[in-house]
Amino acid sequence: MEKLRSAEGSSEAIVTGGSSGIGRASAVAFAQAGASVVVAARRTQEGEETVRLAKDAGGEALFVQTDVTKAADVEALVGKTLEAFGRLDCAFNNAGFGKLIPLTERSEEEWDAEANVNLKAVWLCLKYQIPAMLETGTGAICAPCSSKAIVNMASIGGAVIGTSNFTAYEASKAGVIGLTRSAAIEYAGQGIRINAVSPGMIATDILSNLPKDMVQQVSNAVPLKRLGEAAEVANAVIWLCSDAASYITGHNLVIDGGFTVR
Ligand SMILES: NC(=O)c1ccc[n+]([C@@H]2O[C@H](COP(=O)([O-])OP(=O)(O)OC[C@H]3O[C@@H](n4cnc5c(N)ncnc54)[C@H](OP(=O)(O)O)[C@@H]3O)[C@@H](O)[C@H]2O)c1
Repeated sequence: MEKLRSAEGSSEAIVTGGSSGIGRASAVAFAQAGASVVVAARRTQEGEETVRLAKDAGGEALFVQTDVTKAADVEALVGKTLEAFGRLDCAFNNAGFGKLIPLTERSEEEWDAEANVNLKAVWLCLKYQIPAMLETGTGAICAPCSSKAIVNMASIGGAVIGTSNFTAYEASKAGVIGLTRSAAIEYAGQGIRINAVSPGMIATDILSNLPKDMVQQVSNAVPLKRLGEAAEVANAVIWLCSDAASYITGHNLVIDGGFTVR
């Protein structure tokens, strides 16, 4: 595992949607990489469990209850991160969800709920994280790289392929790619690298929103012949935040066992 450290020593990271699945695995991976991690999500008990796992992995960790669709919550999350750890070096804007609903049957509220968490919330996170990164030192993650790093969660669904009945999810995940590219260009000159990850089907709670036969069909069609594990996405996120990825910004990294190139 790549080690994360700022010019001043340790590295500080925020993971949204850290109460389960890919976010939890990533919080633990940040801790294993030597970073202090702030876990953000709505469910307190599950978020505190992630904190316990990150501490067991050898890192400092803190849970901040956050609804990432609310600007005031995201602003408070970043404020509490600075209060606790004094700096911000990395962020993984991962919170999200999707439901299969036919396009014409989807209500405006259902559209907004998915678009807000999958896309608007990623922008809100960038809006508050970037000034915090800029204000808290050049923060070389690893010399000679002088960049801080943000990874946004997209998905092959929307970012690479289409799936019927998944309009709000896939439109918002496609939007994350555009947001990531634009933000990456805007802040490249100030030493912040911004990338996206697009997982294929990963074995987490989110799959309970999908029919079992659909999950099985996808799993059978993956060239690597299995679903992905949350830790496999987490490893890619840590790598993108590390000096090993020092010349990568504005990229969308597909993590799908070969599904979209088969
Ligand atoms: N698993 C896959 O196959 C797959 C594939 C591609 C992309 N993804 C993406 O990966 C991300 C993580 O999903 P997962 O698979 O790990 O599923 P998961 O276990 O259901 O995790 C979703 C996380 O998002 C958080 N969340 C949802 N709404 C939130 C809100 N308003 N404010 C704060 N946190 C919120 C949830 O926490 P609380 O409920 O505690 O708030 C939870 O921690 C999502 O963006 C998903 O779209 C997943």
